Amino acid sequence: MQATTPAGLDRKEAAIFSQLDPARLPKHIAIIMDGNGRWARRRHMPRVAGHRAGVTSVRSTVETAARIGIPWLTLYAFSEENWKKRPKGEVGFLMKLLSRFLKMEVPTLNQNNIKLEYIGRRHELPEDVNERMEWAREETAKNTGMVLTLALNYSARSEIVDAFKSMAEKAVRNGGLSHLHVDEEAVSQHLYTRNLPDPDFLIRTSGEMRLSNFLLWQCAYAEIYVTDTLWPDFRGTHLLEAIAEYQKRERRFGGLNDKHVPEPRPHKVKR
Ligand code: FPP
Repeated sequence: MQATTPAGLDRKEAAIFSQLDPARLPKHIAIIMDGNGRWARRRHMPRVAGHRAGVTSVRSTVETAARIGIPWLTLYAFSEENWKKRPKGEVGFLMKLLSRFLKMEVPTLNQNNIKLEYIGRRHELPEDVNERMEWAREETAKNTGMVLTLALNYSARSEIVDAFKSMAEKAVRNGGLSHLHVDEEAVSQHLYTRNLPDPDFLIRTSGEMRLSNFLLWQCAYAEIYVTDTLWPDFRGTHLLEAIAEYQKRERRFGGLNDKHVPEPRPHKVKR
């Protein structure tokens, strides 16, 4: 049966979408946006020009994902390592870019019914950026469509450390470490992503075959797709092409095939 084309797709996007099975779209797509620096270098431009160009890719990807009805999209905007190890000037530029992006994009996020969330050690970010982030979150909090999560100053290992600290603190509040309860569900419920299902699809741009400390726990069963396209060249059409590739995969979750083995039980997600 021919799928109805979602409103707002351009002709090329609509053509790719028509080849997809709308019943088997990934529910949570996570993207490692990489290659901004290389994109700029190839053009003999400063690295920050690549980050600036990357904003257009964020806009296009977010809008296309929302239009085709992806419920959750998570973007790795910058890691704790980026934050600590990149030159101050570049980090400052990224902060300004993020602030400006949030201010400019809130109306579009609202038009597309997109709710904004964050993961990462927010308290280490500058206060004015945090205030802008909180403002954008509140402005989009009532939206009921796609949840767009930005990973900012994010590290999967720090997230797991924070989860264990928070489980231990909870046990101590409840009377002592003998009250510590640890199983997969408990860990999931203490991660920054406690309100998100695990990603079923992870995309990385610019050809690197690494997870780079992104959602290590949550991507246990994610299908991984790496494209040579550099992030500033990535658009909604590339997202749809990636989803076409996802739909060719057979997801087995450690079993033989979908018919024999149920999906791992997802942790409880509030919507
Ligand atoms: C990785 O490319 C990209 C980043 C560290 C920053 C990502 C930022 C954006 C896409 C723009 C701002 C985002 C939002 C949400 C407004 P790289 O610099 O590591 O590239 P390289 O590996 O080629 O050097």
